[in-house]
Amino acid sequence: MTVVALDAGQVLDRAGELAELLVDTVDGGASVGFLAPLDRAEALAWWQGRVAGVAAGELAVWAAYEGARLVGTVSLAFPDKPNSRHRAELVKLMVHREARGRGLGRLLLDTAERAAVAAGVTLLHLDTETDSPAEHLYRTAGWTRLGAIPDYAASPAGVLRPTTIYYKQVGVAAVVGGLAGG
Ligand SMILES: CC(C)(COP(=O)(O)OP(=O)(O)OC[C@H]1O[C@@H](n2cnc3c(N)ncnc32)[C@H](O)[C@@H]1OP(=O)(O)O)[C@@H](O)C(=O)NCCC(=O)NCCS
Repeated sequence: MTVVALDAGQVLDRAGELAELLVDTVDGGASVGFLAPLDRAEALAWWQGRVAGVAAGELAVWAAYEGARLVGTVSLAFPDKPNSRHRAELVKLMVHREARGRGLGRLLLDTAERAAVAAGVTLLHLDTETDSPAEHLYRTAGWTRLGAIPDYAASPAGVLRPTTIYYKQVGVAAVVGGLAGG
């Protein structure tokens, strides 16, 4: 398996496969912003709508492949606020149900974290549905659980569910934090 960064043109080229992955993720019950059933055309339009952001440097997208098949993705969203250039939000970590449990989720997360450090980011944050399998992944990757917000978003089935906020200091911030703590 390999993980590669996609530029704007590649996100457009791969939008169909990314849409299939998004549909599979929503069908599987994960809370990633959509209600089920997610129409493939809507998923395709959503990914096509990300292309301008990638071209502008506001969004970085990675794809995981098993052979030639795109089976996973993760993105980093960079805020446009001048006082927030040091942070990024980890979004849309998804592995196709047929490819889960083989380390791809952890590989995608690690890739995004390393790229964030290389880009000078020192703070990462995310939210994820409370008690979802992803929580184990984040906790064991060194993310700090901040707390939960009740009734944050509807599950794909339309039921309001809490979300849990995580953050991770990386790069220089992690080193300085480690020295201060140790
Ligand atoms: C979360 C997700 C990305 C994990 O992908 P994956 O490729 O299966 O993850 P990995 O194989 O790298 O496993 C990572 C860890 O999570 C654990 N894990 C994976 N699926 C699990 C599950 N259903 N229940 C409990 N633990 C699980 C693994 O055991 C592993 O832990 P370990 O290394 O301590 O054994 C995947 O389940 C997914 O796409 N879920 C739907 C979308 C989603 O919820 N994304 C997060 C939104 S913020």
